[in-house]
Amino acid sequence: MTTTGSSDELRFPEGFLWGTATAAHQIEGGNTNNDWWAFEHADGTPVIEPSGDACDSWNRWEQDLDLVAKLGLNSYRFSLEWSRIEPAPGEFSTVALDRYKQMVTTARDRGILPVVTFHHFTTPSWLAERGGWESSEAPDRFGEFTAKAAAHLGDEIGMACTINEPNIVALMGFVLGAFPPGVAMDFGRYDLCCEQLNAGHRRSVEALRAAPGSYPVGLTLSMAELVGHEGGEEELARFQETVEDRFLRNTVGDDFIGVQTYTRFHFTNSGYQVAIDPSARMTPMGYEFYPEAVGATASRAAAVTGLPVIVTENGVSTADDSERIEFVDRALRSVHAAIEDGVDIRGYTLWSLLDNFEWALGYSQHFGIVEVDRTTFARNPKPSGVFFGRVARSGVLGAPPVGS
Ligand code: FCB
Repeated sequence: MTTTGSSDELRFPEGFLWGTATAAHQIEGGNTNNDWWAFEHADGTPVIEPSGDACDSWNRWEQDLDLVAKLGLNSYRFSLEWSRIEPAPGEFSTVALDRYKQMVTTARDRGILPVVTFHHFTTPSWLAERGGWESSEAPDRFGEFTAKAAAHLGDEIGMACTINEPNIVALMGFVLGAFPPGVAMDFGRYDLCCEQLNAGHRRSVEALRAAPGSYPVGLTLSMAELVGHEGGEEELARFQETVEDRFLRNTVGDDFIGVQTYTRFHFTNSGYQVAIDPSARMTPMGYEFYPEAVGATASRAAAVTGLPVIVTENGVSTADDSERIEFVDRALRSVHAAIEDGVDIRGYTLWSLLDNFEWALGYSQHFGIVEVDRTTFARNPKPSGVFFGRVARSGVLGAPPVGS
């Protein structure tokens, strides 16, 4: 139960997870053996710069965990780089597995719940060469990798996310051409990839359930608030089914649904639009600045799946950190309102701990609550991190910041 203290204060439930998230390829650096590295270095892709050393988190992971702890957060979501763990089919690296095990146990030692993602956009080169997620062997291969990694990490895992945003992997890879394999407008291949990712999720859940330990297991999905306008109803329904609901329906028996939201989309009689009002406030990602979307998506995810919700990603790209404070404050208010309405939301994870490699957009975006010097890799927490940490420590969101 949430309670309201002073009229402007919002209290979150006891045990609420307050986290921040990263992904291996976006922060580790030197992940040369996956499809993204190849895509970054191929001619004719939209990637503006390669990931290179990223944030050097392969070496600085302990500093990252220290930052999470120091800020006052109680969970950290990070991903395993499949191509490091299984550099060739069936060949597993003990060194890589040991490193991730160390991350999980060190997080526990710092009082941080390790939320482990098993696939966050990158696929090993050997599997990409055999067709990536389109290949008929991909779901089983992913299941085998999950089993091996889960056995090594054991019951220190706090929570497991199988696949990060399968809908974005398929959409960006086969419709928008901005992720590997860089194919545009091929809806047949998009559908096939979606089916395979859904099968991969199920294999991975089975493997996690059979592994030592017992922790919540779920999928994370990219969801936007879908806003219908006159004449846009059919297009909205089509988008909702083909991009979101086909994945939401594949979560039966899971322990939670991870919701990842950045904005809302509009559907009118001329189709899909990122914004309606020409003067709408936009972010550097080209999204409408609309923090309240997360309350709506979390509510819809809960209604469709019947599962508890963890917001596994939410955040904003901005070079003006005070805008991030406003965004998080407003987003949390919408999450709190949904909880008050009876939606079972158990955690909120801010993307991202670090300013990092934003896929095709390289290092041009700033999602972090910690700034990273691109030459020295020195980390410097931003005021938004301090703000978010204060809310996390107290479980209370205070009165709206002055000026908002
Ligand atoms: C999500 C991704 C994450 C990051 C944010 C901005 O779609 O899961 O890796 O790129 O967007």
